[in-house]
Amino acid sequence: MSKINPDLERVLLTQEEISLRVAELAQQISEDYRQNGNLYLVGILKGAFIFLADLVRELTIPHTVDFMALSSYGNSATSSGAVRILMDLRAPIENRDILLVEDIVDTGQTISYLHKTLQGRRPRSLKSCVLVQKEGDVSHEPIDYLGFTIPNVWVVGYGLDYAETYRTLPYLAELKRSVYTKDAS
Ligand code: PRP
Repeated sequence: MSKINPDLERVLLTQEEISLRVAELAQQISEDYRQNGNLYLVGILKGAFIFLADLVRELTIPHTVDFMALSSYGNSATSSGAVRILMDLRAPIENRDILLVEDIVDTGQTISYLHKTLQGRRPRSLKSCVLVQKEGDVSHEPIDYLGFTIPNVWVVGYGLDYAETYRTLPYLAELKRSVYTKDAS
């Protein structure tokens, strides 16, 4: 971690910390679903693609991967307030065990929308696995598998972006406030 991009304030979670926690989550999920049939994992694009890729390779139970693409933020530092489906699942999920995989829960708006929408498709079970949740008093469905709680700052890396940059950093870092306040003004 000798060189950090000057737009980044600090590293919040190192590659090693993330990797260890992802393995723990996968182990717990594998134990919990061991007696079930195929687990249907739903990765929420774009942010969850790296987390999902690492998580599924640590699972020791039969599983299927599918994706949804949603949008809640524009390229600005504030939420637009609306969630919409940009790309839907490839298959019906009725009577299947569904695990939503998200990179981050911030306001909780996206995860609440997903629960409501997918519950309407009558899965056998519906749970969520989220890498990071921001601290704060938000009301949404409980997260079943949570990697980390982080401070309420703008984070990038490990799938998370700012205006489509920094997504492929191997660690999670806090973005300097000056970067997103500059673009907002
Ligand atoms: C981010 C993230 C979550 C959502 C969380 O997605 O991946 O899906 O915001 O925010 P919320 O809890 O306030 O609803 P974003 O809309 O930025 O799209 P992206 O994953 O394609 O970057």
